[in-house]
Amino acid sequence: MPTIESILNESRLFPPTTDFAQQGNISGSAAYQQLCTQAEKNHQEFWAEQAKKYILWHKPFTQTLDDSNQPFFQWFSDGELNVSFNCLDRHLATQPDKTAIIFESDEGETIRSTYRDLHQRVCKLANALKALGIDKGDCVIIYMPMRIEAVVAMQACARIGAIHSVVFGGFSSKSLHERITNAGAKAIITADEQVRGGKRHALKATVDEAISMGGTESVKKVIVYQRSGSDVPFDPARDVWWHDITQNASNDCEPEWVNAEHPLFTLYTSGSTGKPKGVQHSSAGYLLGTMVSMQWVFDYKPSDIFWCTADVGWITGHSYVAYGPLAMGATQIIFEGVPTYPHAGRFWEIVDKHQVTTFYTAPTAIRSLVKLGADLPEKYNLSSLRLLGSVGEPINPEAWMWYYEKVGRSRCPIVDTWWQTETGSHMIAPLPGVVSLKPGSCTRPLPGIAAAIVDENGQDIEPGEGGFLVIKKPFPSQVRTLWNDPERFKKTYFPQEIANGQYYLAGDSAYCDKDGYFWIMGRIDDVLNVSGHRLGTMEIESALVANPLVAEAAVVGKPHDVKGEAVVAFVVLKGDFPQEDSKAGIVSQLREWVAQEIGPIAKPDEIRFGENLPKTRSGKIMRRLLRALAQGEAITQDISTLENPAILDQLRQAN
Ligand code: WT7
Repeated sequence: MPTIESILNESRLFPPTTDFAQQGNISGSAAYQQLCTQAEKNHQEFWAEQAKKYILWHKPFTQTLDDSNQPFFQWFSDGELNVSFNCLDRHLATQPDKTAIIFESDEGETIRSTYRDLHQRVCKLANALKALGIDKGDCVIIYMPMRIEAVVAMQACARIGAIHSVVFGGFSSKSLHERITNAGAKAIITADEQVRGGKRHALKATVDEAISMGGTESVKKVIVYQRSGSDVPFDPARDVWWHDITQNASNDCEPEWVNAEHPLFTLYTSGSTGKPKGVQHSSAGYLLGTMVSMQWVFDYKPSDIFWCTADVGWITGHSYVAYGPLAMGATQIIFEGVPTYPHAGRFWEIVDKHQVTTFYTAPTAIRSLVKLGADLPEKYNLSSLRLLGSVGEPINPEAWMWYYEKVGRSRCPIVDTWWQTETGSHMIAPLPGVVSLKPGSCTRPLPGIAAAIVDENGQDIEPGEGGFLVIKKPFPSQVRTLWNDPERFKKTYFPQEIANGQYYLAGDSAYCDKDGYFWIMGRIDDVLNVSGHRLGTMEIESALVANPLVAEAAVVGKPHDVKGEAVVAFVVLKGDFPQEDSKAGIVSQLREWVAQEIGPIAKPDEIRFGENLPKTRSGKIMRRLLRALAQGEAITQDISTLENPAILDQLRQAN
């Protein structure tokens, strides 16, 4: 069992405001209870009803859940639909001129796109992709800046039944290469450059570098969107300009009707081994999860101006930028830049400028904004806000209170949403018209989500005790498999040891309090949560060991007041133990190396050198000890199994 103990003792309670209690899409505990009871009584019927209510089906489904080949569950599997049709065409008859996207560029320019306009853009690109030979089932890598075009690219793939795999623009050519080859991508959609926080980053050149690393013969076309207009390398046999191929393409593109289980996308996420996992999502179940959570958790109203600040490179940007808000017909903000450029009030300025009603961001962003300008929200008119959201890691009560008081002016509920790349949509989160909030808790599971805390055998445990967070029943938006790796999928998420592989294992530890509120404590695997993003320690270790100077490396996390967790690397060099005056040089060299290998988010914050690492007699690195060392704690653990105790003093001092 994880030995993480909660030190939180939070007793503040924030009941729904009168406003929410009355006008919430689900208001009052009776309405909520009714949904929960309905789901408990007949899980499948409950989800079938939602699927009929929210999704426009080309061919209705007759079978709700097919669990004959568990854990490879199938939902609505004889139904047919198109996700892009559900996000765009459905609004053409009712609200073609409604603004779908308000785009705010890094420089502060605003571009608006209505549902009609967005539909046309998507159809043009979809037709162009088809003309390039991209078909249903082909995989397309998207490596784009955070602009309307990124969403257009995703929607265009969905329209023709191609499977997209978005790679965050901050990833290096190495990481990109790994994803291109694992996915067997047929095409890559990218841009000349990305512009964020006043800085330019080469995207197209990085794509070329990744392709040149070999094993990328599957890539037939590279589509380049012109963002900055800078000169970029161009291979006329393979590369095409976005503006050229879409210029004369038709505004109409008949959607490709696909099966409910047709993969909508894969998205790579870190696991406890060095190899990222290609999380594969379905079309219908995934879409349904994003829609019901928009309705229940974000309490979506047609008059809302919705803003989820996540990049489309992460699952949050898939579910609550590219799909959920569009399927609901919302007006949403897409912001190209960073929260601190050109000043630390940029988020609040945008909220003020565009009258944002619903604002969804990550605790790490909140903490950095507290640090850089705790009083800045006061300078702006934030009275349009009615709901705030948080995602990515537990939000510490101090940050929660600041967010609540300074940003929400004590008027707006905060929905702290627990979910994962693999769950596709919110799992545990408050319904703002129903659930009283406790700062730091994601509160209670959504109706139809059978979340629970169990011990290592899968037995339920007592309130207040920490255990494994599981979801006991299948749910529509869950991960279907890992791309090209069904065995790893089974082993990771449905391990035999826990209730005979019946439960979805989230990989988090948590406890439930006496009111049934969930409190997330941390990961149970070797995965760090840095600025709300999952990083596998193994991935960073492999990157370090790939450096010619490094013999061995172990990476652990330590608490960090802005990033949540900081990356601490313990490194054994191949040659002699470094001299004092050469340490700094090697440290910066290794940090740069990791940025090149994985991306700047994975750069170790601290590197310590040792002649060896603390190991058990069987050669296993004792990470618990490294974690204690990283945090500067006294070692209280049993070190009798340690092969080389003297090494601890060296690692303790070596920073
Ligand atoms: C992991 C999933 C889901 C989108 C962002 C990250 C942690 C996520 C919360 C929350 C406490 C949270 C968990 C989870 N996490 N949301 N509200 N409270 N922890 O997606 O990269 O798939 O990471 O993020 O540890 O397992 P992801």
